[in-house]
Amino acid sequence: MPATVVVGTQWGDEGKGKFTDLLAKDMSMVVRYQGGHNAGHTLVVDGEKFALQLIPSGVLYPYIVPVIGNGVVVDPFVLLAEMKMLQRRGVDTSNLKVSGNAHLIMPYHQQLDALHERHLGKAKLGTTKRGIGPAYSDKSMRLGIRVQDMLDEDIFAEKLHTVLSHTNKVLTKVFNRLPVDPDKLAEKVLSECLDGIKPLITDTVNLIHDSLEAGQHVLFEGAQATFLDLDHGTYPFVTSSNPTAGGACPGAGIGPRHIDRILGISKAYVTRVGAGPFPTELFDLDGDRMVDIGAEYGTNTGRRRRPGWVDAVMLRHAVRINSLSEMAITKLDVLDTFETVKICVAYEIDGQRVEKLPYHQSDLHRATPIYEELPGWQQDLTAATQASDLPPNAVTYLRILEEQIGIPITLVSTGPGRQQFLNWN
Ligand code: IMP
Repeated sequence: MPATVVVGTQWGDEGKGKFTDLLAKDMSMVVRYQGGHNAGHTLVVDGEKFALQLIPSGVLYPYIVPVIGNGVVVDPFVLLAEMKMLQRRGVDTSNLKVSGNAHLIMPYHQQLDALHERHLGKAKLGTTKRGIGPAYSDKSMRLGIRVQDMLDEDIFAEKLHTVLSHTNKVLTKVFNRLPVDPDKLAEKVLSECLDGIKPLITDTVNLIHDSLEAGQHVLFEGAQATFLDLDHGTYPFVTSSNPTAGGACPGAGIGPRHIDRILGISKAYVTRVGAGPFPTELFDLDGDRMVDIGAEYGTNTGRRRRPGWVDAVMLRHAVRINSLSEMAITKLDVLDTFETVKICVAYEIDGQRVEKLPYHQSDLHRATPIYEELPGWQQDLTAATQASDLPPNAVTYLRILEEQIGIPITLVSTGPGRQQFLNWN
């Protein structure tokens, strides 16, 4: 029962969609296990660009069952809009399944997300304002509403009454906003979404296990990334779920023994959106070049991503906490024009060389990167499809990065297209 997890090893936007899509060729099922439509997966298929937020990348293959697992938070309006967008472009979405246990994002979650951010002022997190945090908070407070609740009109309205008796107090008394009418909201959600969502609702846990027991390959697709993980990321500048590989267990209903391959994805440099510490961040022309050449603007929000050199200290930590078996490097071609390229191999903190990610976050804020600087390859890599196509300086860069992170690099992406990658090692 082969199961693979794909996980981002930085702060997101590593290009997971590309490799998820590539691996999907051999898969029967692709499962999202956390996050919501804060994610943005861009895939380029036959020159056509697809930007997915909620639906697993595997949807582009007709023989794959795309599954939205119980750990995901689902905005039903967004889900239906994304399905319609795909259908308009000729993609069949009839195989899509959604866990009845996944929690719903309601409009008041998005309102609260924006209000919390405004309230935090300078201390704001830079969330995507998609309602992710408030929806997961309600889930933890046992005030959440699940997808399956939509199946019973009375239960749905009753649950909205319960949660809104609390949330309306917050909206009106804390934020001075109008209360939400639970009956009107229930009517709107059910009238606009139920017909479209009902056929998708599935017992995804048994579906996944039946597939694994039949020996089929299942891919678990992490959204966001290791350092946005609620427990292991740069808290509080994180998302509200567990994108790390272990999150696939509660988020999809499998045990750790089911997972036999864990592929980490790292860019050849790093970006981050939103606030939070970032030791190798660049504020110079090199950073601007990364952003320009790499088109580093949010798929969802259009925000400019903060750029920096690749950080092997963080990647070594990501290897540990995800049990990564291998790494894929994306966007190597973005560095094609650089005269020199850098890998952060350690930090200097208060005059000391530190090779492990500091446990105390204040140390991370003060960490200065220690770089290994290498000559660039200054050659266009976008046509490279095998390791032997790479110039010696690119090979050296990958070998040193591999040595630094301590696990094999197996795949290297050299452009956005489906064919622009090579097997390494
Ligand atoms: P939230 O997930 O919308 O609550 O945002 C929390 C933090 O995670 C913010 O810094 C976001 O910019 C970041 N974030 C959430 N989703 C993504 C993603 O898909 N890529 C990169 N950053 C993300």
